Amino acid sequence: MSEHSANPSTATAASGRPRAVKAVIPAAGLATRFLPATKAVPKELLPVVDRPVLQYIVEEAAQAGIDDVLLITGRGKTSMVDHFDRRPDLEERLEKKPELLAAVRRSEELAAIYTVRQPEQLGLGHAVGYAESHVGDAPFAVLLGDEFVKQSEPLLPAMLELQARTGGVVLAFFEVDPAETKRYGIASVEPAEAELTDIGEIVKVTGMVEKPKPEDAPSNLAVLGRYVLPSRIFDAIRRTEPGSGGEIQLTDAMELLRKEGVPVHAIVYRGTRYDTGMPLGYLQTVVQIAAEREDLGSEFRKWLAEFVNSDAAGGSGT
Ligand code: G1P
Repeated sequence: MSEHSANPSTATAASGRPRAVKAVIPAAGLATRFLPATKAVPKELLPVVDRPVLQYIVEEAAQAGIDDVLLITGRGKTSMVDHFDRRPDLEERLEKKPELLAAVRRSEELAAIYTVRQPEQLGLGHAVGYAESHVGDAPFAVLLGDEFVKQSEPLLPAMLELQARTGGVVLAFFEVDPAETKRYGIASVEPAEAELTDIGEIVKVTGMVEKPKPEDAPSNLAVLGRYVLPSRIFDAIRRTEPGSGGEIQLTDAMELLRKEGVPVHAIVYRGTRYDTGMPLGYLQTVVQIAAEREDLGSEFRKWLAEFVNSDAAGGSGT
C-alpha cells in the first residue's frame, strides 16, 4: 500500500482523492436462520474452525490497510466487542503456549474497534446510516458481517483504489443462478472504459434493484457484501423510503445517488466468496477453510473423502 500515507486522515490514492480508511460492519441482525444457536451467541461469532466469522471480516479490512472498524450492533451482541478486547488474565495463563498466545493477541491487535447501536432493525440502509458521525465526510467501506472472501484473492484493495479514482460508489458483483435473484441486490451494467483488475472486470452500473423476482431481474449479477461509499450516501439514506421487505435498503439509497449523477462502478469478482449467512453456506465455508488449513487440512481432506464415499454419507460404500 505505497499510496497509504502515515496519517490515516489524509491517506490518498494515486488519483490524489482521499482513500477510505474506515470500515463499517453492520451486525445488529437477529440471525433467525440460525436459531436456537443465535439466541445467546451473535451469528457473527459462530466459529469457522477456530476463529469467529467476524474475525475473518476484520482481518480482510486490516489486510487492505483499514484498521478503524465500526460495528453497528444491537441488543444481545456486546460479546462481539469482547472478542477484540485485551484479555490480560488469559494472556498470562498462555505464557508457556506461544502459538495460542499469538492467536489471542492477534485478535486484539487487528484493528481499533468502535461500536454504535442500531436500536431498531429497519434495514441495511438504516443500519449504515448510524455510521455517519463516526465516518464524517470521508469515503468509507461497508463489510457485511456474514460473508468474506478468500485471503489470497483480496477484493477490497482494488475497490478502495477504484473509489479513490471515481469518487463515487464502488461495488463488487458475483454471478448467481437466475432463480436466486430474490436473495440479493441485482444490477444492470455496461462495460467501463477502465481496465481489468487482477481479480475481475470493472463495469459501470446502469441500475440496481433489491431482491427482484427472477422475471424482473435486470441480470444475474448480484451485489456482494462489500461496498466503498462516498459520505453523500448518508443524505441519500435519509431520503430513502422503505423498499423490499418494508426495510430501508442500501441498494435503494445507492440507486438514488446513481440517478442523481454519482458514478457507480463495480468489480465482477472472480475469486472465492464465503457466505455464512445461512446454514448450508456456513457448513460449506467451514469445510473449505478446514480443508485448506496447513495444520489440519491434510488429515481433514483424507477423512472427508472417506466419509463422502461411505454408507453414512449415502456414497458408494467402498
Ligand atoms: C444484503 C443486501 C443485498 C446483497 C446481499 C449480499 O442482503 O441488501 O443487496 O446482495 O446483502 O449478501 P441480505 O443478505 O442482508 O438480505
